[in-house]
Amino acid sequence: MRSLVHSLLVTALMIWSAVADLRYVATLEQDGRAVDASHIEFVKTPPLRHGRHGRHASSRRDANAKDNISYSDNWCGVSHRSTPSDPVSNIFGYFTVPDLKLRPGIPAPQFAAAWIGVDGAKCNSTMLQAGVTTVVNANGGQSASAWWEWFPEASYSIKGLTVKPGDWMSINITIKDERTARVVVTNAQRGYAITLALTEGPKLCRLDTEWILEDFYEKNAQVAFATFSDLWFLDVAATTVAGKTIGVDGAAMVHMKNETGSVLCWPEQWDSSNFVVLSGSG
Ligand SMILES: *[C@@H]1O[C@H](CO)[C@@H](O)[C@H](O)[C@H]1NC(C)=O
Ligand SMILES: *[C@@H]1O[C@H](CO)[C@@H](O)[C@H](O)[C@H]1NC(C)=O
Ligand SMILES: *[C@@H]1O[C@H](CO)[C@@H](O)[C@H](O)[C@H]1NC(C)=O
Ligand SMILES: *[C@@H]1O[C@H](CO)[C@@H](O)[C@H](O)[C@H]1NC(C)=O
Repeated sequence: MRSLVHSLLVTALMIWSAVADLRYVATLEQDGRAVDASHIEFVKTPPLRHGRHGRHASSRRDANAKDNISYSDNWCGVSHRSTPSDPVSNIFGYFTVPDLKLRPGIPAPQFAAAWIGVDGAKCNSTMLQAGVTTVVNANGGQSASAWWEWFPEASYSIKGLTVKPGDWMSINITIKDERTARVVVTNAQRGYAITLALTEGPKLCRLDTEWILEDFYEKNAQVAFATFSDLWFLDVAATTVAGKTIGVDGAAMVHMKNETGSVLCWPEQWDSSNFVVLSGSG
């Protein structure tokens, strides 16, 4: 029995050393039990600095709406800031893997990425984030994959775990200190959870929290942005060191506008911890 437990632990625990100092240990659970993680591959990709780079537009408070609306050219969703005296210690949320359709009039393949992260705004030198990217090809076929990134050091696509458009995922990021964090990527539908214990990461400020759908940049250009089915973020919450909960109430509701002013996606609040991201049809 003891040796069985021992071998389970050994196979469940894989250690990788990333560039520079950042290190990560990954463990995998299936239906709550530790399982062999050796079939999981972390494919290094150039850090994309998912989200929040590019032109930032004005913000306005709409007197008739409870939304605090601002605009971005590359993402839509919800963003909320804590204070340096009360840093963020956890961020969580469920969301569905983007389920895409080709946007007429622009070339395939087309994309969208949904993710949850900390920093990257007020503190733009670093950002810790995890989520999924879906791609839709010319024939309408889709493929999706999960990834995590600690900008600017490393970004990894997680290979070997099934992710399908419409699956319910959750991301749980716990920050122990500015260079140590734990990221849990769960596919609630398929019963697996991969935990990444990260150490020696780029120093976080632990200020901004965000739940985002993104038209990300690759090689300095935005990828073609698909249309998508209503994408819910549920049970979203961030917690601070002092125990404060940050959610959708009082957050910035960010709408994505393209160069000619069309709103391509926007969030609508349901309540303090749930919102939906809607797709412009054009
Ligand atoms: C951070 O923001 C500053 C000021 O807006 C900008 O000059 C700089 O290029 C940004 N850095 C990154 C890594 O985006
Ligand atoms: C997120 O992870 C932390 C640390 O393991 C845990 O305490 C917390 O309950 C998790 N949150 C959710 C919503 O599962
Ligand atoms: C609106 O959101 C911004 C963050 O972008 C925040 O600084 C501001 O306090 C919010 N305003 C209100 C009235 O909620
Ligand atoms: C902005 O989006 C609208 C609606 O999809 C589209 O007609 C227009 O061509 C887009 N503009 C740019 C510059 O992509």
